[in-house]
Amino acid sequence: MTTKKLLRALAGETQSPPPVWLMRQAGRYLPEYRQIRAQAGTFLDLCYNPDLAVEVTHQPIRRYNFDAAILFSDILVVPHGLGRTVSFKEGEGPVLTPIGLATDLDGLDIQGLLTRLQPVLETVKRLSQTLPSSCALIGFAGAPWTVATYMIEGGSSKDFAASKRMMWNQPDLFARLMEILTDATIAYLGAQVEAGAEVLQLFDSWSGILPEEEFKRWSISPMVKIVAELKAKYPAIKIVGFPKGAGLMYRNYVIDTKVDGISLDWTVPLEWAAENLQPLATLQGNLDPILVAVGGEALDQAVDRLLTVLGKGPFIANLGHGIIPSTPPENVDRLVKRIRR
Ligand code: CP3
Repeated sequence: MTTKKLLRALAGETQSPPPVWLMRQAGRYLPEYRQIRAQAGTFLDLCYNPDLAVEVTHQPIRRYNFDAAILFSDILVVPHGLGRTVSFKEGEGPVLTPIGLATDLDGLDIQGLLTRLQPVLETVKRLSQTLPSSCALIGFAGAPWTVATYMIEGGSSKDFAASKRMMWNQPDLFARLMEILTDATIAYLGAQVEAGAEVLQLFDSWSGILPEEEFKRWSISPMVKIVAELKAKYPAIKIVGFPKGAGLMYRNYVIDTKVDGISLDWTVPLEWAAENLQPLATLQGNLDPILVAVGGEALDQAVDRLLTVLGKGPFIANLGHGIIPSTPPENVDRLVKRIRR
């Protein structure tokens, strides 16, 4: 049996204290990250530089001794690996050339995906050889729906109108895009497992904007396939789903996808999750990231309540979404110490 706390939690064990890691734990709130980031060139240059990507993945582990390291990369390396134009504009977020036509899909280079993403796989391999023995390695990808929204909108969006228009107005085109992304995600995550990832997390950051039927069709169904195919090929792999904003649909998601772990956003009521989700999967979450930026007593109280309500079953302490850049690193220290107290 493994001694890694994260793997034990995902195998269904209840631990006190629970394992802890934070979404976006490597990032701009750390001065040592900002230094490497400045020296790397663009954000994608950093993602594709194994020396520097390994270094920034290690940074939060060195500081806080987290129970898991998450590969430093981004969900948008998949569209980039398929041959789309992707860039990150300072203060603006990601910019992609929007997809809207069948010919755009014909141009997607599925064969070239793993070759283009070789530097990321090299980073995974080096991490698996260099992380502390107590620290589990998490690989990840965006879920097909969330990645599709960036490809269709050409970046972030307020209402996702272009994505929904394609979903309802050009259903065949949209279905084809989703199928390509589902297969690309399976291939990419399988390669991460081969390179040494022990856990995989799928980020469906925009699943919460879908109506019930579309949520089942475009968030749950692709994930059912992703989990089934990866588990058939790699029976030991642990998979965590993060259907952010899914609300009451969290339960359908857990039941249908058969994930080992389910990451909760900060709006999910704790007692409801303990009763309705924890018997089915290991819970992960769900502190409000702003609360970590605020710190102090408000943070302590929220941590204590989280541990009291979710700590009685299989649980991984984490946030309800990524840590924000203005978070004082001391607050993260306070949070980790409180959890391990
Ligand atoms: O968690 C980690 O520490 C691992 C690294 C990681 C990043 N992005 C690094 C990153 C992970 C797991 C992601 C996932 C990701 N990327 C998601 C899903 C999670 C979520 O936030 O909902 C999404 C939607 C993206 C797409 C993305 N990447 C956006 C919208 C942005 C711009 C907004 C921002 O925070 O700047 C990014 C850029 C990005 N990804 C940065 C980092 C550290 C900041 C870029 C920089 O350092 O210049």
